[in-house]
Amino acid sequence: MTSQESAPNLTVQAEDPLEGLLLEDKSQFKTCSQIGFYRRQKLLHPDQSPYLAQLDTLKTENGIATLNIIHQRTKVPLQLQVIAVEGNIVRLKIKELSPLKPRYEVPDVLVKEPTTEREPAETDIKVQPDKSEATLKSNGSVTIRTRGTVTAKGDVFGLWKEKFGDFVDIKAHGPSSVGLDFTLHGFENVYGLPEHADIHCLKDTGENEAYRLYNLDVYGYCVYDKMGTYGSVPLLLAHKPSYTCGIFWLNASETLVEIHSKAALQSHLQSNSPDIRKQKAVPKMDIRWMSESGIVDVFLLLGPMPQNVFNQYAQLTGTQILPPLFSLGYHQCRWNYEDEADVEAVDSGFDEHNIPYDVFWLDIEHTDGKRYFTWDPDRFPDPVKMQNKLREKRRKLVVISDPHIKVDPNYTLYAEANERGYFVKDREMQNFEGSCWPGVSSYIDFTNPAAREWYSSQFSLDKYKNATDILFVWNDMNEPSVFDAPEMTMPKDAVHHQGWEHRDLHNLYGFYQQMSTSDGLIQRSGGKERPFVLTRSFFAGSQRYGAVWTGDNKAEWKYLKISVPMLLSLSVTGIAFCGADVGGFVGDPDPELLVRWYQAGSFQPFFRGHAMQGTKRREPWLFGEENTLLIRKAIKERYTLLPYWYLLFYRAYRTAELVMRPLWVEFSKYQDAFALESQYMLGNALLVAPVLDPGVKSIDVLFPGTGEYWYDFRTYTLVKGPHRQKVAVTLEEIPVFQRGGSIIPMRTAVGKSTAWMGSSPYELHVALDRKGLAVGELYVDDGYSLQYLHEHMYSHRRFTFSKNVLRSSSADKEGRYTVDCILEKVYIIGLKKSPSKVTAHCSGGKKTMEFTYNNQLCLLSLENLSLQVCADWEIHIA
Ligand code: GLC
Repeated sequence: MTSQESAPNLTVQAEDPLEGLLLEDKSQFKTCSQIGFYRRQKLLHPDQSPYLAQLDTLKTENGIATLNIIHQRTKVPLQLQVIAVEGNIVRLKIKELSPLKPRYEVPDVLVKEPTTEREPAETDIKVQPDKSEATLKSNGSVTIRTRGTVTAKGDVFGLWKEKFGDFVDIKAHGPSSVGLDFTLHGFENVYGLPEHADIHCLKDTGENEAYRLYNLDVYGYCVYDKMGTYGSVPLLLAHKPSYTCGIFWLNASETLVEIHSKAALQSHLQSNSPDIRKQKAVPKMDIRWMSESGIVDVFLLLGPMPQNVFNQYAQLTGTQILPPLFSLGYHQCRWNYEDEADVEAVDSGFDEHNIPYDVFWLDIEHTDGKRYFTWDPDRFPDPVKMQNKLREKRRKLVVISDPHIKVDPNYTLYAEANERGYFVKDREMQNFEGSCWPGVSSYIDFTNPAAREWYSSQFSLDKYKNATDILFVWNDMNEPSVFDAPEMTMPKDAVHHQGWEHRDLHNLYGFYQQMSTSDGLIQRSGGKERPFVLTRSFFAGSQRYGAVWTGDNKAEWKYLKISVPMLLSLSVTGIAFCGADVGGFVGDPDPELLVRWYQAGSFQPFFRGHAMQGTKRREPWLFGEENTLLIRKAIKERYTLLPYWYLLFYRAYRTAELVMRPLWVEFSKYQDAFALESQYMLGNALLVAPVLDPGVKSIDVLFPGTGEYWYDFRTYTLVKGPHRQKVAVTLEEIPVFQRGGSIIPMRTAVGKSTAWMGSSPYELHVALDRKGLAVGELYVDDGYSLQYLHEHMYSHRRFTFSKNVLRSSSADKEGRYTVDCILEKVYIIGLKKSPSKVTAHCSGGKKTMEFTYNNQLCLLSLENLSLQVCADWEIHIA
């Protein structure tokens, strides 16, 4: 496909690129029935597979069991490998034994070649040669079946050529799809597979539809839909009260996943009369994975608990990079802030209205004609001065850097990339050219390691003119978005490094750009500082490089509502640092929606207000004093909770724990919570129930867990779980509850940004469980460098409350960092009776403390402590 051809139903000019784009218009994207390999795969039936396992070829070598499978008619042999990977993971690889052309095997996503645990024994997998079926014997929960291949006369199935509108995809290497069927026995709930604007607990797809994993620029996407959006993580999790497992399908080509939930009749013995067999319906789910090219390379993550699955996935693809602390604050973005004066005015506006924020964002218009790494000379004549002003305010700047490069021989970046051959090629091996924001553009081939290294080096301060070390980066349009190409993305027959077709690796493109940007920022600092990179497109493993947001949502209630399940689905697939545009990107939110969005966003991991070009200005103080107050309150609450957020991110990085957690993860046996997506946990201590509808006076909240205590986060009133209750709401705030048994670290006061809060005092919220116990942690480091990683420069503290003693001790003896920060306040919530005396014991001796006790709330307040937050001490309550 060349750039001259134009999309059938999309006329886009470089000057006004959004003209002609219809919101929630799906016609420019394929339906499943318009996808050739899907039609072909649908002709194959798992129980009529033409493949036979040749058991006499079975051998085990170096911990890998290998077996040939042969297609009975074509006699084409495939090789199946079964690998027992360390940590209760089984890897299954199927590829052609002697291919004419090797298939693409996804590089760079796994953090290392997985280590074999032991010889895969007969106990691992039972192959049924005549049924092309294998069952994992260790748990009997997963059955896998192969499918056949299909040939057709002519090309009705798009074997060599496929049309979409006026676009023709030429398949130089012919058809190549792969597919595999899994049956999950006893399961009714599956999750994951982002990114879709859909519910968290995935639906039965029906017979002729599938969740599509194909990274696309879907401006103003439809909600409750299975179409592919900006990124893909081919990881599906299945959960039942007794067991959790995952299927990680390592394939970067277009992938479709069908989900069918069925009940299977199973006969079982009746316990009271052992001779009588009874039939009962046992749920099962059939999961059918299909990809356009590549090989079958699938990891079965065998749990058995949710956290085990997260650890297994993290062992393969890595954990969330620990973000710099500033990036957990509030971000202010707009397409576009016009010029330096605008930046200064908005920045000061935050101070005038006493609203903290950390990062100012500049969108595409800050550049000289959408040439990234440059500045518009009229609007931004002195970017260094502008950055220095932000630096004085101890704030940061983020600028956009997209992967399309304006075709302009006088633009150094273009000229260099062109000369070095770093652009993706079209099928004639010329630079691929397509239209994006700057007009005709070429696209950096980030799959080429040399191109990545070169791109990384562009961020060094001697190359990137007028950038300073407070400048961080936003990678957008990296699906990649190509306005005049099929489905607004790069044609599949474009050619990458080493001759791979775009079809083989499409879903990896954005992953590689973020990797390269993140490396560039680390290199810029001489390997010393943490990067911050936001990306729109992503793949499995993107968590290692930064944050992800959910793209072009709309300023409507349904988009606020869908943000929660979308972020939960990202979270369970390893992408902890995720968020949605606060306020909604397209259109103008009314004040109530905006306030509710700030309140919800302040409890979501990545917290950025953003708005599209042409929308009304919506800085937080533009909606009247009343609403300014509400937004200020929401943002300030975020800042007081930053010690808890930072701890959660540390735990995500260290132990793959989820920051934003669906209830089924935390209450894995409580079936009422399995499909719940209107509320969620932040870590294991806070239950968040955002208000997602207009005009409501109360919302329904489920308080999970037998014997669990839940305390209103602001009023300390107690609700005992399990319980479902209508909770009254006002416009003031959204309901949040602290779980009994937890201790949450907070700051007593907020500053203009996170950097202003380095020495502000801490407070602890100790919420007692029914046994009068509580535990919690605090993680502190310098907030920006990589010294926590290389030099143990952090302090990780543990707090416990038991037998009326609150104790602070080290949670990690290796940590060498200390801060001179005071613990000023402690609130003990749920303390049954008023103490007679409170004493604090620390290295400086023993001191009697003043306290107040609220009988009604069972709340003990200690407000004048001055203990070192990172030291050992005890508070005794007599
Ligand atoms: C895309 C992004 C949006 C950005 C715009 C201009 O639509 O999703 O966030 O503002 O491009 O760069």
